[in-house]
Amino acid sequence: MQLKHYLQFNDLSREEYEYLFSRARFIKQTFKQHQQYWPLTDRTLAMIFDKNSTRTRLSFEAGMNQLGGSSIYLSTRDTQLGRGEPVEDAARVISRMVDIVMIRTYAHDTLQRFADYSSVPVINGLTDEYHPCQILADIFTFTEYRGDIKGKVIAWIGDANNVCNTWLQAAEIFDFKVHVSTPPGYDIDPLQIGLKTTEHFKSFADPHDAVKNADLVTTDVWTSMGFEAESEQRRADFAAFCVDADMMALAKERALFMHCLPAHRGEEVAAEVIDGHQSVVWDEAENRLHTQKALMEYLLLGKIGRSDCE
Ligand code: CP
Ligand code: NVA
Repeated sequence: MQLKHYLQFNDLSREEYEYLFSRARFIKQTFKQHQQYWPLTDRTLAMIFDKNSTRTRLSFEAGMNQLGGSSIYLSTRDTQLGRGEPVEDAARVISRMVDIVMIRTYAHDTLQRFADYSSVPVINGLTDEYHPCQILADIFTFTEYRGDIKGKVIAWIGDANNVCNTWLQAAEIFDFKVHVSTPPGYDIDPLQIGLKTTEHFKSFADPHDAVKNADLVTTDVWTSMGFEAESEQRRADFAAFCVDADMMALAKERALFMHCLPAHRGEEVAAEVIDGHQSVVWDEAENRLHTQKALMEYLLLGKIGRSDCE
């Protein structure tokens, strides 16, 4: 089987995503029915964390166990990576001992270098630039609630961060529009994230304009991991970018609200929104488990036949 990594959202095609979603539906169903499904018996996942995590660690670790395999948690703090071992050397060694690797780190380049020297599939568990596993779960969740995302309008309010960048890559693949509203000085850079055109996004100075007619409103923390030194400045710069009930009221009546979590109620989102009837954040978080199980299955086994999807 050809070695395949999942480092950016555009590493997979629309057709591959449709396959993953059908597998995720099947895998979710078996999990809910407490049916044993062990396609990855004896496979081992190494998870390397340079940054904190609740959802990503849990969903990968539980997911691999539920598929019959096992997982090993490695933190940069207590491995030789934290003492300066070259990432290329670590990649060559780690990938000889396990079947698949998930990495959460800072610079995307570190992840890319690891993948370049790895003999097994590498998955991006979040970098400063991208968070593809999150948007995989988010689009799956949207589809569960509203069907095909093609042609829909997604409003992104707040920081043009790793999650926003990934939504923009996804818009080109799934053919939907992203309305982005960021404070001045925090604008998106379409070239840096490899967008083919600017057709799938539109920038708005006022977040209230961005959410008009949106099918989904989404946001994220004002200060991502690694940018903590800027938090005070960001709290001031983003003050007008809180998704509250007045803002949600401008979106379509059936609009959903998503947030990758963890969230700060009273900063990027009001409690009335994240805890309100349009919010699907708990399903969104749970779907990390099912979609990543489908992803690991695909990267390790390839397509395993339509009959397994039913
Ligand atoms: N959304 C997400 O990636 O959560 P964690 O930081 O808890 O993994
Ligand atoms: N943008 C956030 C996402 C956390 C899951 C961060 O990078 O910290």
